[in-house]
Amino acid sequence: MEFFNREKEIKEVLSVIESEPQLIYFIYGPINSGKTALIKEVIRKLDLDKYIPFYIDFRMKNIVDIDDFAEVLLEVRDDIEVKTLEESIERALEIILSNIKLLKSASIFFGMPINIPISEKVFQKFLDGISKKEKKVGNIYTYIEKLLLRIRSLGKMPILVLDELQMLKDISLNGNRSLLKSFFQFLVGLTKAHHLAHVFCVSSDSLFIEHVYSSAELENRADYILVDDFGKKEALEFIDFLTKELLEEKIVLSKKEKEKIYDFVGGKPVLLIKVINKLKTKSLDEVLNYLLQDEKQKIKYFLEDVEERDIELYKKVINVFKLFQDKLEIPDSLVKKSLKEFLVNKNILFLDPIKGILKPQSRLTWHAINKALKELNLT
Ligand SMILES: Nc1ncnc2c1ncn2[C@@H]1O[C@H](COP(=O)(O)OP(=O)(O)O)[C@@H](O)[C@H]1O
Ligand SMILES: [Mg+2]
Repeated sequence: MEFFNREKEIKEVLSVIESEPQLIYFIYGPINSGKTALIKEVIRKLDLDKYIPFYIDFRMKNIVDIDDFAEVLLEVRDDIEVKTLEESIERALEIILSNIKLLKSASIFFGMPINIPISEKVFQKFLDGISKKEKKVGNIYTYIEKLLLRIRSLGKMPILVLDELQMLKDISLNGNRSLLKSFFQFLVGLTKAHHLAHVFCVSSDSLFIEHVYSSAELENRADYILVDDFGKKEALEFIDFLTKELLEEKIVLSKKEKEKIYDFVGGKPVLLIKVINKLKTKSLDEVLNYLLQDEKQKIKYFLEDVEERDIELYKKVINVFKLFQDKLEIPDSLVKKSLKEFLVNKNILFLDPIKGILKPQSRLTWHAINKALKELNLT
């Protein structure tokens, strides 16, 4: 499917890319709002003679230690027959440039095959040779930095996209120093200190974003770009777009029907896609009622579960839910930190730490919460 709109966000990201690297950018927003889709679209638009985009998805592998981290960050290749770091960098560079060439000549955009290659022999030296964990990541950072420098020496600007970065949050290097801290330090070096590469970190985990936002190390070294669900205007246009793309305009929706879809599910792209796809076999009311029923049941089972385990917590959760009876979003200061974290962790609420706002993950979830409260006679 084609990519739809997001003009404002694309412009924002492109304007960052067009200036000198200064800050680490965090792209955040509710689950499934289209963050990954947006960054992929930006990469598709790039002039590949000027920019070399790297895309790393930290969900590719279950990361439990530094070896896993290294294997996600780097593409370990046994076909690079070299022994020294410098030789590995030169070979990596060749591979990257030939991948870019392939990408440029492809008639369709086939995702992002640009990884950071490293010779297996050199990689093994990093991992085996030194037992101290700190040294190990240090070597990896040095390798990447040297490679990026080489790219810059060719007059090209590297762009690092780090998707699902929150996967690193629980890994420790040694004692109490976290891997994430050392990684951020490295990324600050690439941006603020040496202006070597652009860095975009993407995450749906709003607690992670809050943690980053309030951490002293990143103050004045990071900035934030919100990719929220579509607002009403964009959502209605997206529905038109989807009826063309998915239904080949066999079904025509009236303005009223489109507004009804938005009022029910809101502007989350995946939900709108789901609705339109289901219209192939069901009526609009059937589809919307089914989605609401399904989401409401999830909320009810969640509440049942909490009630059984901890009645005090249950009462607190109900009180939070009641705050949303006539409001789609509330100031996050109205809810205690631990309670906020509990509901955000359960993917029911989304916290925007920059705006200081707490809201259900989608408009559908908002309706479901209110319907559940009604059915439980709690309103
Ligand atoms: N602007 C868009 N145009 C078309 N489809 C989109 C758009 N944004 C998101 N989507 C669809 O929604 C899905 C979820 O988006 P994704 O980028 O994976 O969400 P996130 O990374 O925020 O969790 C994508 O697979 C894509 O199909
Ligand atoms: Mg994503």
